[in-house]
Amino acid sequence: RFFRWAYRLTVLSGLGLTGYLGYSIYILRHPEEQIEPDPSKKTLVILGTGWGSVSLLKKLDTENYNVVVISPRNFFLFTPLLPSCTTGLIEHRSIMEPIRNILRHKKATVKFFEAEATKIDYEKRVVYISDDSEIKGDVSHTVVPFDMLVVGVGAENATFGIPGVRENSCFLKEVGDAQKIRKRIMDCVETAVFKDQTDEEVKRLLHMVVVGGGPTGVEFAGELQDFFEDDLRKWIPEIQDNFHVTLVEALPNILPMFSKQLIEYTESSFKEEKITIRTKTMVKNVTEKFIEAEVSKPDGTKELEKIPYGLLVWATGNAVRDVVRDLMGQIPAQKDSRRGLAVNEFLVVNGTENIWAVGDCAITNYAPTAQVAGQEGAFLARLFNTMARTEEIESELKKLSVAQSEAKGEDRDRVLDEIKERQRQLRRTKQIGPFQYSHQGSLAYIGKERAVADISWLSGNIASGGTMTYLFWRSAYLSMCFSARNRVLVATDWIKAKIFGRDVSRE
Ligand code: FAD
Ligand code: NAI
Repeated sequence: RFFRWAYRLTVLSGLGLTGYLGYSIYILRHPEEQIEPDPSKKTLVILGTGWGSVSLLKKLDTENYNVVVISPRNFFLFTPLLPSCTTGLIEHRSIMEPIRNILRHKKATVKFFEAEATKIDYEKRVVYISDDSEIKGDVSHTVVPFDMLVVGVGAENATFGIPGVRENSCFLKEVGDAQKIRKRIMDCVETAVFKDQTDEEVKRLLHMVVVGGGPTGVEFAGELQDFFEDDLRKWIPEIQDNFHVTLVEALPNILPMFSKQLIEYTESSFKEEKITIRTKTMVKNVTEKFIEAEVSKPDGTKELEKIPYGLLVWATGNAVRDVVRDLMGQIPAQKDSRRGLAVNEFLVVNGTENIWAVGDCAITNYAPTAQVAGQEGAFLARLFNTMARTEEIESELKKLSVAQSEAKGEDRDRVLDEIKERQRQLRRTKQIGPFQYSHQGSLAYIGKERAVADISWLSGNIASGGTMTYLFWRSAYLSMCFSARNRVLVATDWIKAKIFGRDVSRE
């Protein structure tokens, strides 16, 4: 009897789960008809399709505004898993979500223009946009007016004006960067085993140098060493004595945002993985085949050293984009800002009343991370939904006060009651406080199926590193992927690589 019931329960829950999944996929594939927003409503222009802008779009009630999104990228990119794309552990399309899918599920239509904002004219309230894609129509430059503007254009790669960086190294910010690195790794390997290559040249070609010991550089170095250990050395044994990863950092230690204990753990884990860490080494010049770095010696003296490389990945943090710098120049209140747009506690750009900034292009008290950008975007959605609701109630109140002056007797009492109810709603709606960031912790993959985590928990902090943390890292990032589709694709890529290994074709 028990087994019969257990069997029925299992079958029922299986059917329920299948039905739920089927329904979710059906809804995803068959979005409802969208409404056209009222043209008399305000035009809200959102720049960018990254963490800040997309989390705003996700929660925004689009029927309240005429929303226009402008970005040169017609997809959202889940950056935390980008280092895994450089070695083919994860295919890049698995961490991309088309912006069209996101916008098509909104209640009211949203316009999207695949273009770069080249200039924001604060006085005229317009954004100049340019289509920089390969295929251009008769019109590829135009102007978009705005009533409200959200700047979420992120940041560009910092090079500090060091000569040769842009020409000779690979960055790691966009999908194209990861694809370029993947190709170059294999090009270096295949060129190193070319017939009659000299020993010195083989060593250079197989020296993979990463500049910048922040989380981007550390995660990439770990992924690259994994690629070598798991796959490259098996398929191309000739390279195993010369393939070498070096991480170069100007400061005395790597991962400065992590606790001391986790920095030491990462350093000892890298030693075990045979990744060389060169701290107190500041790169000053880059040429086609070597970097020149100033090395600080223990006795305080400095020495210039030439380090040959085959692949050079440059990960030294963020710099301000031109369009942001130009906007800063138009607003006197921004004259002391250097690293991006200074904003107030409601993320309004200081010196303006209708421009907000989110993510890496805004200067707040927090680090430029996806976590911060995502929370800022969600805050702005709440703020804008509230502003629209407030305006709606205020206009209803105006109509009711006219009605009250014309009404008599019982009708007048009814209108008065309605006015009081609206005033109560208005007080509740207006209660939105300033932006407050809630730090969930920092996580980073360090190679050899290990990760480090500084997690905020019960107003304390837990620091952990190792294989269990790696399993936590994987499940946390899998659950944070943008959509169920992304989750399935990433999990499938992990399983595929475990069974068949990474693909070592150069493409
Ligand atoms: P972005 O996400 O960079 O988006 C900017 C958007 O603006 C893009 O769509 C871009 O195409 C668009 N854009 C650019 N120029 C223009 C223009 N002129 N006009 C219009 N649109 C424009 N953070 C974490 O918290 N955890 C992590 O694990 C993590 N891992 C990372 C790994 C890597 C490899 C990298 C590079 C970063 C990582 N980060 C991580 C940091 C995180 O990705 C950024 O802080 C986050 O992307 C910032 O979000 P954003 O919306 O400001 O900018
Ligand atoms: P970063 O700014 O965190 O680190 C850059 C490093 O490069 C610094 O340690 C700096 O000292 C070093 N550097 C600068 N110039 C140099 C030179 N000439 N020679 C040698 N070293 C030099 O940059 P990163 O790693 O790109 O991260 C950017 C932002 O994204 C950070 O806020 C970071 O927290 C976030 N991020 C978070 C991740 C995570 O949480 N797992 C992963 C990747 C990025």
